[in-house]
Amino acid sequence: MKATAIAPSNIAFIKYWGKKDEELRLPENGSISMNLNNLYTTTTVEFAAKYIRDLVVIDGKKSEKETRRVIKHLDRIRKIAKTTFKAKVVSKNNFPSSTGLSSSASGFAALTLAAVKAAGLNLSEKHLTILARQGSGSACRSIPDGFVEWLEGKTNETSYAYSLYPSNYWDILDIVVLISKDKKDISSTEGQKLTKTSPFYKVRLSNINKKLKSCKEFLNKKNFSEFGKLIEAETLELHAIMLTSSPSLIYWSPGTIQIMRLVKKWRNEGVPVYFTVNTGQDIHLIVEGENRENLLEKLKEVKEIKKVIVNNQSIGARLINKHLF
Ligand code: PMV
Repeated sequence: MKATAIAPSNIAFIKYWGKKDEELRLPENGSISMNLNNLYTTTTVEFAAKYIRDLVVIDGKKSEKETRRVIKHLDRIRKIAKTTFKAKVVSKNNFPSSTGLSSSASGFAALTLAAVKAAGLNLSEKHLTILARQGSGSACRSIPDGFVEWLEGKTNETSYAYSLYPSNYWDILDIVVLISKDKKDISSTEGQKLTKTSPFYKVRLSNINKKLKSCKEFLNKKNFSEFGKLIEAETLELHAIMLTSSPSLIYWSPGTIQIMRLVKKWRNEGVPVYFTVNTGQDIHLIVEGENRENLLEKLKEVKEIKKVIVNNQSIGARLINKHLF
């Protein structure tokens, strides 16, 4: 059977960094994110007797490393569906992968939904998030709609994601500023293995539940300035852990820091905007819808910017009828 799914990337406001179980990808802490409507992956999967081996094509290319990870994920689904059929997987991102825009989140969410359907299974949203999490942690947050919480959980069954609020809940945007198309040299999966080498990681974990609670409270009250302050401080704390890991992880480029400084300046000039950064040099600017044009005007003045992608919130992963092959 053949099935195609589309899944959004997501931006975490309180971030996932560090695993307590590598194999199951159980995180050390819970996280909260928003799905992004202009960064997405489309994936078609077909299981059939005619395939003698799994064939994986991502953005027109066959990469050995990615293929291994995808096959491992297909195996999880084959086990549940009790099938031995090999599969063809074709996947397309509408944005550059491995630059810190979370292509693994949208990628594994789309793969999970398409492969589950193609294998003839009917799983609950919760079960889909549990499966997606094992492919790439942050992918579980790309399955439900809008604003999503991923519960830390102590076991495979209790570490799952669910929607906190639907995608039209709050008029805030994530304006992604692309600094460069260069790929990062260390993936999130590799970087996360170093978390415990930072002397500050323990401090992070001791405060994280309080942070998650505050984030949910500011979301609930739609308190933009408190929300913005919290998520910016969270990013800087996360990167302090990365910078002080051994070996150190430096994901920023000069352009990233330039935008961070400008964001502070623009706030002083009356545009309420806050930044967040994942494992890459690109920077996400969070702004209320009413300030969209003000911010876009400011961004036009920065010549180092390669591209700007404006994202509203998005619904989660869903099936579509248009197959890629
Ligand atoms: O799911 P991964 O292995 O790509 O890790 C994601 C890590 C961060 O993007 C830095 C944080 C997050 O919660 O998305």
